[in-house]
Amino acid sequence: MNLTMKPQLLFCCTLVCSLASAASQDTSSPVSFASALDIPHLRKQGTATQLIVDGKPFLALAGELANNSATSLDYMKPIWPKLVDSKLNTVLAGVSWGQIEPVEGKFDFKIVDGVIQEARRHNLHLALLWFASWKNGMSSYPPPWVKKDFERFPRAQIAEGADPWPVLTISEVPRTKVTGNLSLELLTPLSEANREADARAFAALMRHVKEVDGRKHTVLFIQVENEVGMQGDTRDRSPGANQAFAGPVPKELMDYLQQHKDTLIPEFRKVWEAAGFKTSGTWEEVFGKGVAADEIFMAWHFARYVGRVAAAGKAEYPIPMYVNAALPRTSSIADPVLKGREPTILGYFAVGGPMADVMDIWRAGGPQIDIFSPDAYNDFADWCAKYDRSGNPLFVPESRGGSEGAARMLYAFGRHNAIGYSPMGIERSSTPDPDLTTAYDLVTQLAPLISAHQGDGSMSAVMLRSPSDPPQKVPVGNYTLQVVFTSPRRIAGEPPPQGNRSPAAAIFIAAGPDEYYAAGSGLAISFSPNTPGPPLAGLATVEEGIFVHGRWVAGRRLEGDDSDEGQFLMLGSKKGIQHFTLYRYR
Ligand code: DGJ
Repeated sequence: MNLTMKPQLLFCCTLVCSLASAASQDTSSPVSFASALDIPHLRKQGTATQLIVDGKPFLALAGELANNSATSLDYMKPIWPKLVDSKLNTVLAGVSWGQIEPVEGKFDFKIVDGVIQEARRHNLHLALLWFASWKNGMSSYPPPWVKKDFERFPRAQIAEGADPWPVLTISEVPRTKVTGNLSLELLTPLSEANREADARAFAALMRHVKEVDGRKHTVLFIQVENEVGMQGDTRDRSPGANQAFAGPVPKELMDYLQQHKDTLIPEFRKVWEAAGFKTSGTWEEVFGKGVAADEIFMAWHFARYVGRVAAAGKAEYPIPMYVNAALPRTSSIADPVLKGREPTILGYFAVGGPMADVMDIWRAGGPQIDIFSPDAYNDFADWCAKYDRSGNPLFVPESRGGSEGAARMLYAFGRHNAIGYSPMGIERSSTPDPDLTTAYDLVTQLAPLISAHQGDGSMSAVMLRSPSDPPQKVPVGNYTLQVVFTSPRRIAGEPPPQGNRSPAAAIFIAAGPDEYYAAGSGLAISFSPNTPGPPLAGLATVEEGIFVHGRWVAGRRLEGDDSDEGQFLMLGSKKGIQHFTLYRYR
């Protein structure tokens, strides 16, 4: 540095240099942000909610690792390059409470640091999954000092013989009879000691993530706990729970319900209405005698607990936080408990978890939770519709891979303005899954367009499972699209196509009054105007192509065989993008 420079010039140089060095260190100077907008956050756009990273909308093209893959850096070594090859941009990785706090108050973040550094080195983002008090409705992740001290950290209990769910091993494990009820390997949500121990550990984790990543934003959002809920009974029957259940519904919850009476989730509102919309009383007085009151009681206490944990973490580093729900096998029975029906063969399933029907209870109890997410393995479209309600953004942390997953991803982003989609066990296949990789690539190309069109009705998507699925009609911009499943056509000179049995799906974006993009495969689309004017619509131009850094690069111009002589926009068996314009006539 030339010290003979004018004083103010000298000052500027010193300032620039010190800022530069501070940024590279990232852990030296305490991380402070001009505003919460500097860190990953959520932002509304029309009816959609977007995840904003470094000032820009971000679509999480994600994949969830198997539960414990990220607990060993060596185990992860061969996996990172595979994740990169699969073209995803975000990895969901579990963090075990027991692993980071093996001794009470003593935290070890070596593995977490390694996972963050490796993700960063591979140019990948992370969502960390806080496996702590609960995982799949059980408590296998708390540290031994919690598990062993069951007086200080009490368990949930079920009534003797109340375990109608044969599939759960619980009923086969010989247990000592406790106070007439049976203790589960499940921390009770009604214990302040449990809650505060979890909240302290989570706050320590978030404080650390802020220190090591507060400027780099490798970690974008957090899942708090995993598929919480009561197993084996409709509610906790521990002494503390029985006392609370016999007591009044907290005023806080009743105030919330009264304030939101007209916008409550219909399934839940019906239960409260059936019991007379009472505004005070015991749980059974307000919600009616039966299992629905049990579920609402459990939902309130799980939400309070998880909400407190989330709040403790956000006080350190307020990036977005979500909870994920274990869902019954078929959405048709949706929430048997809430419908007051005795459980079917499914038994009691994660009772009190963030099911779509009790989102209001979770919102009232856990206002710090930003998103309620479905682990939607079955009935994907139904669960997307149930969770993309009352302003809840859709993020799917667990679902399927393969061609099914590829179709679901396009559907979630296009039809439900999803923030992200993530197949479970992404590293399980020995090589990157070709269908998923193609879909990740397609959505990456389209990302600027998708983000620009989220939340204003100028984008949609269709997913059809087979030729027997009825055609779907979707309005997108100035036209209504009639979409049918199509098997590859016999094209002269081409080998006979293999049966197209994978699910077909596509995203449709109205980029202008008559201008569109369609991305996907296996569908044939025809159009009809949905605004006044000439009643018929035709394809004016069609071209296939790709987006390179957001810029459209056209390939072949498609007419004749490739548009069924202009009758349909044809998305073949190979996933691709087409840009087309429509015209109207009579
Ligand atoms: C749902 C859970 O959330 C996951 O962690 C995992 O246990 C799957 N079920 C089954 O692999």
